[in-house]
Amino acid sequence: MKVELYEATDQNPNLKNYDEAVKNFDWNEVEKNFSWYETGKYNMAYEAIDKHVENGLADKVALHYKNGETHSSYTFDELKKASNKAANVLKDEAGVVKGDRVFIFMARSPELYFSLLGALKVGAIVGPLFEAFMEKAVRDRLENSDAKVIITTPELLPRIPMDDLPNLEKVVVVGDGVEGDYLDFDKSFENASDEFDIEWLDKEDGMILHYTSGSTGQPKGVLHVQQAMVQHYISGKYVLDLKEDDVYWCTADPGWVTGTSYGIFAPWLNGATNVVVGGRFSPEAWYGAIQNLNITIWYSAPTAFRMLMGAGDEIVKDYDLSSLRHVLSVGEPLNPEVVKWGMKVFNLRIHDTWWMTETGAHMIVNFPSMDIKGGSMGKPLPGTEAAIIDDEGNELPPNRMGNLALKKGWPAMMRKIWKNDAKYDSYFIGDWYVSGDSAYMDEEGYFWFQGRVDDVIMTAGERVGPFEIESKLVEHPAVQEAGVIGKPDPVRGEIVKAFIAIREGFDQTDELKEEIRVFVKEGLAAHAAPREIEFKDKLPKTRSGKIMRRVLKAWELDLPAGDLSSMDDE
Ligand code: WT7
Repeated sequence: MKVELYEATDQNPNLKNYDEAVKNFDWNEVEKNFSWYETGKYNMAYEAIDKHVENGLADKVALHYKNGETHSSYTFDELKKASNKAANVLKDEAGVVKGDRVFIFMARSPELYFSLLGALKVGAIVGPLFEAFMEKAVRDRLENSDAKVIITTPELLPRIPMDDLPNLEKVVVVGDGVEGDYLDFDKSFENASDEFDIEWLDKEDGMILHYTSGSTGQPKGVLHVQQAMVQHYISGKYVLDLKEDDVYWCTADPGWVTGTSYGIFAPWLNGATNVVVGGRFSPEAWYGAIQNLNITIWYSAPTAFRMLMGAGDEIVKDYDLSSLRHVLSVGEPLNPEVVKWGMKVFNLRIHDTWWMTETGAHMIVNFPSMDIKGGSMGKPLPGTEAAIIDDEGNELPPNRMGNLALKKGWPAMMRKIWKNDAKYDSYFIGDWYVSGDSAYMDEEGYFWFQGRVDDVIMTAGERVGPFEIESKLVEHPAVQEAGVIGKPDPVRGEIVKAFIAIREGFDQTDELKEEIRVFVKEGLAAHAAPREIEFKDKLPKTRSGKIMRRVLKAWELDLPAGDLSSMDDE
């Protein structure tokens, strides 16, 4: 296949020469940018917000929040004060102390950012939850982490389980109109002092807990620590290319790691103006945001770009997008087709970035100063090492496909899987962290994504575990057995497809399919609900009774099913 090459045109990027940077890179030099380098006292919220107030950026806009006609802006000074107020509320009225797990379950709003920063100032470990989660998903996460406090809004309150969670001491509600034994955030916030003594932490203290899916078992809690900020900062500088006058927009929700590492930490550690757009996706709202806020740097995902592509090139002409200078993508393979489209409509290269919840920050990316090979994820962040290894941990030569692996020890690497040390250990072969992706590296050191090694599904940039969906499906009275796979889809990358064997006494009807789909949507999460359901009399299983998703996938794609020796003859 012919590879399109897109040459670097940016005359003055923060990282000017990749090879030089790799040669001279020293994490210790990066650490000198933080006040804890002198004081030894760590707190992400201080480095991201308060420090800038002391260093001349007090009146610079830190946050633009836009949702339909609503637009509000907050300076670094205002954000410092608002997060101090939130910290006082959490400490004094919800009893939060260092190390407590505080969950934040709400749609994007300024209060989400105030309370997340406030929780960090108190020294809590923050657990952000995507607003689409339903009761079971919320319960699993609160239970696993022994969460003490959850902050939410009246709309989402009914999804918070009130029983059997002995550690959950306080439910904090943002927005009025609810009666009951809740802490009224707005009222307390209003009366709280805007001064707060930050809780100082150590570099290995917990900071943020993101739950993510694997191919087996319940979602796992990936813990990141304060030290991660070193990599958030430098990747914000080198990869996002953040500079003083930039207006930066990351489209991801803080319920996912992109929405915290690059929707909160990286931009603010670099003192940038950060844009948050609430509400639903529409080409008009998105192009409108870029135009009206003069956004210069835009970080989004292939699914979003493909939806914009689908909306046509004409609509782009209705907007003045000339403020844009740098565009990036993450979450799924960025098709060469999409990069080509980006050149056509924005006259800009879309820079692919590869990383994972577990890595905490960028690992393999396309830098502004680097030529882009359409379809490649780029090269490793200076200071990190990536390789393709076989299942024994041996490095493979260029152009050989294998496990994409990273050398242990980068600052933003997860430090544990909450309450599951065995799972954590299973990620490593010797000194290598094994990603679960397969890839190859070409002679020039560019990495090329090939697929997942396991059964994890990436749909519209969101990672869903088949096991979690299968478990929900079999709770439905009509479902005997279920197997879930990702089916390739032109817009979403993959969609969730479920194969279902139903119980006797039920009919294989379209109504039943719809009922089952809604059951998952309302019981687990909208993005996890199967978009396609197929009834089967029986599902392929191993002799030990494990559903063989590999065979389901082969059926779906009309491929040979491979080795069937472990399949149950029945
Ligand atoms: C998985 C991690 C942290 C970013 C959001 C997703 C896939 C991520 C790319 C890319 C191809 C990608 C991988 C990875 N992925 N970026 N640029 N090209 N695939 O984080 O939910 O932890 O998922 O997303 O399969 O393992 P996540």
